[in-house]
Amino acid sequence: MNILGICGSLRKASYNMAALRACTELMPQGVTLHITSIADIPMYNQDVMDAGMPDPVKRLRGEIAAADGVLMASPEYNFSLPAPLKNAIDWASRAPNQVFQDKPVAIISAAAPGPLGGARVQYDLRRILTQLWAYPLPRPEVFIGMANTKFDAQGKLTDDTTRKFLTDLLNGFRDWIVRMQPKK
Ligand SMILES: Cc1cc2nc3c(=O)[nH]c(=O)nc-3n(C[C@H](O)[C@H](O)[C@H](O)COP(=O)(O)O)c2cc1C
Repeated sequence: MNILGICGSLRKASYNMAALRACTELMPQGVTLHITSIADIPMYNQDVMDAGMPDPVKRLRGEIAAADGVLMASPEYNFSLPAPLKNAIDWASRAPNQVFQDKPVAIISAAAPGPLGGARVQYDLRRILTQLWAYPLPRPEVFIGMANTKFDAQGKLTDDTTRKFLTDLLNGFRDWIVRMQPKK
């Protein structure tokens, strides 16, 4: 089983990217996580789309289409999605073959120094993904509040409780992907 990781933050020292990296080591047996980048996705413009999808967009859409599931880790910006993540989803959503159709998606969020851990971005993401006929994992939810106290300066996860929450979510996501397979 192959999961694609997408981070909503572009900054080098991102806590959300650090959380995704931690997940690579916590994946259940037989499941791998490949983390992609959305840093090179241009701003959505219908004129550009009409002239032909840019290569970074084609790459991202191909990665999403090929994955058994997508794990999104995102900060909350002004109570909602960061622009790069919304922009990437908008590109991915365009016909033909909008790539979130029937795609299991798990969401985590990290925030610093706030304590809520990006709760609101998760609900906005769920709303958008449901609209695209994706299958967001209902539970568990993982919000990493005060992320600055849970990762060290190198971005390594140092908090055992967060490690357990992430492990539970990843196990639940594997089961969810199996459950969402079309009936034969
Ligand atoms: C434009 C902007 C808006 C933000 N708005 C929120 C917010 O609404 N809620 C919140 O918890 N944190 C907010 N933050 C703080 C982020 O949680 C914090 O910068 C976080 O570390 C960013 O994630 P990253 O470490 O993955 O880059 C905001 C940060 C920026 C730059």
